[in-house]
Amino acid sequence: MTKTFDVAVVGATGAVGEVMLALLAERRFPVGTVYALASQRSVGTTVRCGDRTLTVQDLATFDFRKTQIGLFSAGGDISAIYAPKAAAAGCIVIDNTAHFRYDDDIPLVVPEVNPGDIGRYQARGIIANPNCSTIQMVVALKPIYDAVGIERINVCTYQSVSGTGKEAIEELALQSRAVLAGDPVVAKVYPKPIAFNVLPHIDVFLENGYTKEEMKMVWETNKIMGDPSIRVNPTTARVPVMYGHSEALHIETREKLTAVAARALLTGAPGVVVLDERKPGGYPTAVTESAGHDAVFVGRIREDVSHPRGLDLWVVSDNLRKGAALNSIQIAEHLVATFL
Ligand code: A2P
Repeated sequence: MTKTFDVAVVGATGAVGEVMLALLAERRFPVGTVYALASQRSVGTTVRCGDRTLTVQDLATFDFRKTQIGLFSAGGDISAIYAPKAAAAGCIVIDNTAHFRYDDDIPLVVPEVNPGDIGRYQARGIIANPNCSTIQMVVALKPIYDAVGIERINVCTYQSVSGTGKEAIEELALQSRAVLAGDPVVAKVYPKPIAFNVLPHIDVFLENGYTKEEMKMVWETNKIMGDPSIRVNPTTARVPVMYGHSEALHIETREKLTAVAARALLTGAPGVVVLDERKPGGYPTAVTESAGHDAVFVGRIREDVSHPRGLDLWVVSDNLRKGAALNSIQIAEHLVATFL
């Protein structure tokens, strides 16, 4: 008989939690009982996990001794309180928030890049899942890094509203409708209208003028790649797209890499799909390729005309899947295959 694991999904009613539940079923993760946990507001409502209908329970009163794995995606403040409690009860936590990511004794893992770090979970019983924008970037860059090294990354992101959560998805829909009807636009989740607009601002502003989302890409790239010498310079923007983040990467490699060689390296690389035809539509977009799919799609591969070792890439992925829920479940798959 296959060994099964009892799993708690924390934030089960949220945008990421829903996808976690769907993927547990879709990927045939060896689950025994699945517990759907959220705030008291949601207690008694139901969510789906494949064929199963689960009644939502209150996180605050849940006994984590009943579980072996906890998938957390209910915000950093919630993880700060409940992830250590769950870990102390013997439940290994895979945390999708930023709360523990920068602690030295917490592994930060993208399975295509640094699966070996998963084994360090024992220190605190918590594994951190990186930021969505970092995950898709390092999946695309790892084969290039291994082949020729990377000195510097300039990156601009075009991030969908689902990364903010369900309220933001609703805000984009309501504002879009209002604009088209000629009604006044109300902005609640974001400080300015997101419909038909672009906001160069994700997460809080820091003292150095970057936003926290931007500095997450710096810190996390260095930690996941295990190389603090890679210099990363991000600008992160929110765009009126529902699902799927896009990124323009401009990298400087240590040794010259041609576009042809880069395309060959990326073709068949783990988790990557290359779509790079130099014709209209011969590139991936959030809506047409990534939304609802697992891969990190790469296109527009070309040599930088302004730098002898520069290379440009366009990278697109579903932020709720590879950027969040899928990466967490891949970590769980490695964990059970190797350690449990
Ligand atoms: P709830 O629906 O009960 O508020 P999103 O990122 O889509 O906004 O979802 C956030 C998730 O985090 C939801 O599942 C939400 O549950 C959950 N959550 C928010 N606050 C709490 C809390 N205090 N305790 C438990 N879960 C929470």
